[in-house]
Amino acid sequence: MNFEYHNPTDVIFGAGSLPRLGEVVSRYGKKALIVTGGGSVKKTSIFDRAVASLKESGIDYAECDGVEPNPRITSVARGAKIAHDENCDVIVALGGGSTMDASKVMAAAFYYDGDPWDMIFHGQPKPFFPTKALPIVTVPTLAATGSEMNPNGVITNEATKEKSFTGAACMYPKVAIVDPELTLTVPKNQTAFGVCDIITHVTEAYFNGVDGTPIQDRFAEGVILTVMEYGKRAIADGSDLEARAHMQWGSILALNGWVNCGTNGGYPVHMIEHTVSAFHDITHAAGLAIINPSWMRFAAKQHTSKFVQFAERIFGLKSKGPNDLDCALAGVDKFEAFLKEIGCPTHFSELDIDDKLFAKYAQETLRIINDGNGNLPARPPMSEADIISVLQAAL
Ligand code: NZQ
Ligand code: ZN
Repeated sequence: MNFEYHNPTDVIFGAGSLPRLGEVVSRYGKKALIVTGGGSVKKTSIFDRAVASLKESGIDYAECDGVEPNPRITSVARGAKIAHDENCDVIVALGGGSTMDASKVMAAAFYYDGDPWDMIFHGQPKPFFPTKALPIVTVPTLAATGSEMNPNGVITNEATKEKSFTGAACMYPKVAIVDPELTLTVPKNQTAFGVCDIITHVTEAYFNGVDGTPIQDRFAEGVILTVMEYGKRAIADGSDLEARAHMQWGSILALNGWVNCGTNGGYPVHMIEHTVSAFHDITHAAGLAIINPSWMRFAAKQHTSKFVQFAERIFGLKSKGPNDLDCALAGVDKFEAFLKEIGCPTHFSELDIDDKLFAKYAQETLRIINDGNGNLPARPPMSEADIISVLQAAL
């Protein structure tokens, strides 16, 4: 496919980069809104070190703490109000994907008088596309979402049980300060979820995209193999800085538009997972680990050759040819076994989720995003019955 590629986010990468924060923020103003999550950056010294760096550069700050995992639209509105009341010029997102996503939508909500939920694509006839946002500096403390270098935000509306995304050019972070030392305290389970999220960002584009993308395929395979190898190391020993560094670069590459440009695929596993998360408030990548292998088994039957390639290149299996479905499915089994090995759930029952609402999740997913023919954009496109069958197989 033809494509245009542009990513304006500057990346400052490396252990010991956090003290650059003040100098970076001073390019955009004199007062920052520091956005944080549930307190991890305060338990560690990350918050204090960030503030010290801002002060050294003469930057004043206000604070919006308590952004939830699966960030709520109410937190977005609260943060935008603080930014207004405190006359902030720039937002510093200090945390994981939830904090970074909420920060981006706050930055756009700062200039929008309406309800910030208008910006989130939730099936409304005319979503509001922001064109102006406060400058954002991301400081990721967790390798997972790639939010640090992309323009997307995923937000939950608890009142309506919806979770969905927005994305606009004005929401690209200006700078991402990516310091792997900040991720040394990420617990084992969140590290494993990060591995699963990074791999799933790549597999979505890999399996749902068009054929004839050999460079993108090999980039994707490189990200998967690297994150599998170093992710296991980071889970075994959280203080392994080299492993943490490769995880963080993998997180960025998986979803900054580079690996998937020109592939033009949908993100069915993500779209279904967001709806399940909206109902059950589960960790994003726990949902992905459950849905992705099941979705793969469904899709492998329809376009087998890419799954054979995956089985051969990622797991070293030998096929009888591009239509060898047994080999394709054996590759999926290996992938699921890897997810289990690193500690991810692979069935809904492990999260006490039963099948009562499966039809509802399918309908909600399709209401929020469909291809105009009532199907979920994917390869192959998924009907309501297809989505239910994938969920059922993951029970
Ligand atoms: O909230 P705090 O106290 O900071 O603790 C967090 C949270 O409990 C903790 N944590 C983060 N950094 C830590 C740490 N604990 C110890 N040491 C550290 N250095 O980890 C927990 C999870 O944090 P969260 O930010 O929720 O995780 P993640 O980065 O996985 O973000 C998940 C959110 O991002 C969305 C997901 O849907 C979900 O809402 N996504 C965003 C995307 C994007 N913007 O492009 C794409 C993704 O596909 C995804 O949908
Ligand atoms: Zn994801």
